[in-house]
Amino acid sequence: MKSLITGVAGFIGSHLAEKLLQDGHEVLGIDKFLDNYPRTFKDNHLSAFAQHPKFSFLDRDLLLADLKQLMGDVTYVFHLAGQPGVRSSWGQDFAKYSENNIRATQMLLEAARGLKLTKFVFASTSSVYGDTDDLPMREEGQTRPVSPYGVSKLAAEHLCYLYWKAFGVPTVALRFFTVYGPRQRPDMFFHIFMRGLLRGERVPLYDDGEQTRDFTFCTDIVSGILGGAFYPGSGEVFNLGGGTQTSLLNAIAMIERIAGRSARLERFDRQKGDVRHTSASIEAAKAKLGYLPCMGLEEGLVREWDWIRTLGY
Ligand code: UGA
Repeated sequence: MKSLITGVAGFIGSHLAEKLLQDGHEVLGIDKFLDNYPRTFKDNHLSAFAQHPKFSFLDRDLLLADLKQLMGDVTYVFHLAGQPGVRSSWGQDFAKYSENNIRATQMLLEAARGLKLTKFVFASTSSVYGDTDDLPMREEGQTRPVSPYGVSKLAAEHLCYLYWKAFGVPTVALRFFTVYGPRQRPDMFFHIFMRGLLRGERVPLYDDGEQTRDFTFCTDIVSGILGGAFYPGSGEVFNLGGGTQTSLLNAIAMIERIAGRSARLERFDRQKGDVRHTSASIEAAKAKLGYLPCMGLEEGLVREWDWIRTLGY
């Protein structure tokens, strides 16, 4: 069975590749090494499985690749490539979000028309919901993003639905909720915070720290992605949360306990684009995808901390 993973050198893409290879799949990975964070991280991720006999890799921009040929003999497409990051999506930079999140997805879907794919899995985000008191967030609830990033991902989700409805491309969109663990992107809070602890540097804390996130451990996300690939339906959307809605201040206290060090926090106002709370209803994913996140936050943070300490910060 052959799978295509876009964004294979990234945080989640690299974990998914390792799991599929372990399970005996053939994996074709593509990545253009977007400059959103240093390439050395992505090279390191890839090095964990680059030599695997069932892995092949293409260093290419999706916007420039021959996508029909790329997907020609593939059973599953895992479309994880994209321009991530909520707070950085304003202004001039939105061009990158529309190219890498909307246009690239449309081009892949267009190329997928008429192919014999079993599933096209799209990595969406909790950011499509925006700020709401209607918690937990349910798939059929209102989607009103408060960041340009969320808008771009919601547009891509709609494209997945359109290409399923119009052309039968077997899409499923999965809304990831703040994923963490080893290989977490260096622009995400836990990574920034742990790096700050190691270096004795000040860590910016936006808002009052009482904002909450439904943090999801990377291996739980991978199991949800596989659930999305293997379930028989398509044209649907599912939340993948970790079941660990916690305030930032609680998570900070937990990390400080794990690390045996205290942080130097520098307070700032809430940032434009950030939502106050996220919490996923995972009833649909449980029922249809067999999704059952099992990593507790404390154990997951220990694993991320152990990884961060290997980075030489
Ligand atoms: C994260 C990812 O960055 C998105 O790509 C993803 O789509 C989204 O999760 C999702 O899964 O829904 P976010 O929840 O904002 O977005 O995660 P972080 O960037 O780790 O931020 C978490 C919280 O920490 C936010 O309230 C943010 O304001 C705060 N933060 C972040 C700080 O206080 N200081 C920082 O230096 C960075």
